[in-house]
Amino acid sequence: MAPALRTLHLAADDDFAGFRSAARALLQGGVPPEQVHWSTGEATLFDAPLATPSLAREPDPPYGANPADARSPDALRLPAALLRTISHAALHDDAQRFALIYRLLWRLQQQPALRHDPLDADTLRLAHMAQAVRRDAHKMKAFVRFRPVAADDVADGTLHVAWFEPGHHVVGAVGPFFARRFTNMAWAILTPRGSLRWQPPGADGAPGRLHRGPPARRADAPPADAGEALWLTYYQHIFNPARLKLSMMEKEMPRRYWHNLPEAALIAPLAAAAQARSDAMVAQPASVPARTVRLLPARSVPQVIASLDDLRAATARCRECPIGEHATQAVCGEGPVGAPLMLVGEQPGDQEDLAGRPFVGPAGQWLDEALRQLGIARESVYLANAVKHFKFELRGKRRLHKTAGQREAMACRHWMEDEIRLVRPKALVALGATAARALLGDGVQVTRDRGRWLQRGEDGLPVLVTLHPSALLRMDRAAQDEAWQRWLADLSLATQGPPA
Ligand code: URA
Repeated sequence: MAPALRTLHLAADDDFAGFRSAARALLQGGVPPEQVHWSTGEATLFDAPLATPSLAREPDPPYGANPADARSPDALRLPAALLRTISHAALHDDAQRFALIYRLLWRLQQQPALRHDPLDADTLRLAHMAQAVRRDAHKMKAFVRFRPVAADDVADGTLHVAWFEPGHHVVGAVGPFFARRFTNMAWAILTPRGSLRWQPPGADGAPGRLHRGPPARRADAPPADAGEALWLTYYQHIFNPARLKLSMMEKEMPRRYWHNLPEAALIAPLAAAAQARSDAMVAQPASVPARTVRLLPARSVPQVIASLDDLRAATARCRECPIGEHATQAVCGEGPVGAPLMLVGEQPGDQEDLAGRPFVGPAGQWLDEALRQLGIARESVYLANAVKHFKFELRGKRRLHKTAGQREAMACRHWMEDEIRLVRPKALVALGATAARALLGDGVQVTRDRGRWLQRGEDGLPVLVTLHPSALLRMDRAAQDEAWQRWLADLSLATQGPPA
């Protein structure tokens, strides 16, 4: 007979403390994940609490607090970063989140080595969920707009009320942020996932108090008021037409938040005028950067490249092709040695050349956004370029990117190979044709080979080829959305690693 399914009922959608207690007891009891069903909200007659003393709800750790400070399931000691990911993923809207977390805990108990595998499918999915939750919490902090209403039970007679629609169960987690930010103001935040009310510290020294309340409806919140006129004037003044990128703006401020944001009504007219305003800005002369990085004396160039410092010193002096003579400095990759994934671009751009760091300009921002959406920390991957110096042509005083020629890319190739050898990634991503050819040879074609794993002859390392972010940047708006989704899918595949 199949073992009975146990339903574990948690007190609320964000009851991470209750989940933690229950998971601890289940792990100690050796209960496998397929025998557990997790539920939240109103309990039903069919919910059978586990027969342990630890199901009672414990106070939640504050959002952003290190959950490692709290006890982890006794049978299992988890790295602090993983515990933090789990505590954030537990606030995701996905009904399967607790089942997924418990399954991962169970698997970690059975196979402790799993904790060192950042490409494990459950670990990755949880990381994506945690990232979505952090993003939602960030949006709530950024997009809540209070409106004053008269209130008898508030000392100064004004309660500031906001309406917000979070995508995940972040209300309780974000409450302490608002309490700190608006300590001396009486406020309430109403949402369909529960409400918050802050009672500021009293004149008599009574401490401030944060209360949780039931879900609310849009109609419970007050309509627009005159105070918004000031904010709208401010918004108009800080709007920078030269930096307008509507698609990025929508990613930062997704449309689903717009109907609750008073300034959203200004976006269309400001965007319509942006081109003319930014043309006027562009017409101003640009300045050519001074060379700031001196060549190293020849004797400091190591003969053997035994470390990334050696590589930096050697590429700084490299004149195996003419590009290095004109660039400000060589730009080697950045990221941890031993990073599981190394992403290889073409060459540093204008901003990278000045900063001495890869992917810090516009293409880098797109890459950062993609990594963010995939829940991958930029610091956990190694970002590099096939060519180490910026190749450009001067157009007036502007330095315009010029694709490195085959000879230049090949001259630089041994530096890239040194970098791969020193970083020791498990897999590589080629961003665009220059990187793909440098990594895989001339036979590769980005449009034909993108999105699948290929293998390098040199060291057998798997390589996933995809577009360079600049290719997306150059597309027209109509094609960009679909291309972005395909690109994300390619990168997501890369983060999962090649099939075993
Ligand atoms: N494009 C690249 O290929 N690399 C960078 O570092 C920046 C832009």
